[in-house]
Amino acid sequence: EKGGYDHFMLKEIYEQPKAIKDTISPRVTKDGKIKLDDVSLTKEDIDKFNKVYVVACGTAYHAGLISKTLIERYLNIPVVVDIASEFRYGEPLIDENTLMIVVSQSGETADTLAALKLAKEKGARVLAVTNVVGSSISREADDVLYTWAGPEIAVASTKAHTTQLVLLALVSLYMAEKKGTISKEKYDEIIKEIVELPRKAQSILDNTDLIEEITEKIYKNEHVFYIGRGMDYDVSREASLKLKEISYAHSEALPAGELKHGTLALIEDGTPVIATITQSKTYEKALSNIKEVKARGAYVIAVTQEEHKEIEKYVDSVLYIPDVIDELTSVLAVIPLQLLAYYVAVNRGCSIDKPRNLAKSVTVE
Ligand code: M6R
Repeated sequence: EKGGYDHFMLKEIYEQPKAIKDTISPRVTKDGKIKLDDVSLTKEDIDKFNKVYVVACGTAYHAGLISKTLIERYLNIPVVVDIASEFRYGEPLIDENTLMIVVSQSGETADTLAALKLAKEKGARVLAVTNVVGSSISREADDVLYTWAGPEIAVASTKAHTTQLVLLALVSLYMAEKKGTISKEKYDEIIKEIVELPRKAQSILDNTDLIEEITEKIYKNEHVFYIGRGMDYDVSREASLKLKEISYAHSEALPAGELKHGTLALIEDGTPVIATITQSKTYEKALSNIKEVKARGAYVIAVTQEEHKEIEKYVDSVLYIPDVIDELTSVLAVIPLQLLAYYVAVNRGCSIDKPRNLAKSVTVE
């Protein structure tokens, strides 16, 4: 049932090109228009929203963080991304002009479900992004969009995450187009790039020798740092979670600009620092941060697009992803980092598909 793979996690990592394709295909027409048959949001509804909340846990929360940039950029309205267990005990300022997006692979996470119910009580319109048809969250939401990732068995979420990312990108474009806040050129450009993602994801998976090689150098370390700026920071948070939950190595992700406000003190000779550096707006700034950790002896692994070959001068290893528009780099950048976490855990002899103390679906609080 693992289809020849040693673990479900690896199988699911390799299923991503297909999962992404299955999630996109039914929603993009031949002439490059998004159609979300399952969503009943009208232009009037969308125009009314003055705020968006995205609420989730764990990996789904990280997908939410990444969507914030896209929604704010294309819809011109503020987005708050919150962890469900924080949201539900906080005092969220939501009303009938709020769009609440809940993201959950299983559709059963207790805190996410409770957050959804709270938002509904306060009059928000709720859109759920989930992978499980008929799940509690899908039944409670006003609208549901399914990630068509297929069953995800490994506790560590992989294909659910990348499909959440593409689906959230599609929803933001869809709403922006209806609202009239995105140019036709930008819309067309991003759709074109979205459609290319399965092929690009596949090309990463076709060549993993370097990832395995790098793993040899870092797997014995008890502390690993991930850095990035903006969406690259969000990817770093997801990559860090992946590593710690399956390999039990301690890891921390931080905004690269924060290093010198404390964490830089922990960098010593050989400390692994994994730098995701894909955003053109902050490329130079992130590169300075790489130089800072390098000067303290860090072993630096960069994740960036093929167009940034010059980075090889500054780091120890580079994991390249195919060139892709800034808005979508996260979908590709996370893939080599999922594999890195996987191989570190293999080298450490961990129980990959069922890490200690964790459950696939957290239905208790
Ligand atoms: O089923 P959900 O997406 O609601 O689950 C949320 C988290 O429990 C989940 O993403 C968890 O963080 C994963 N084990 C991470 O790999």
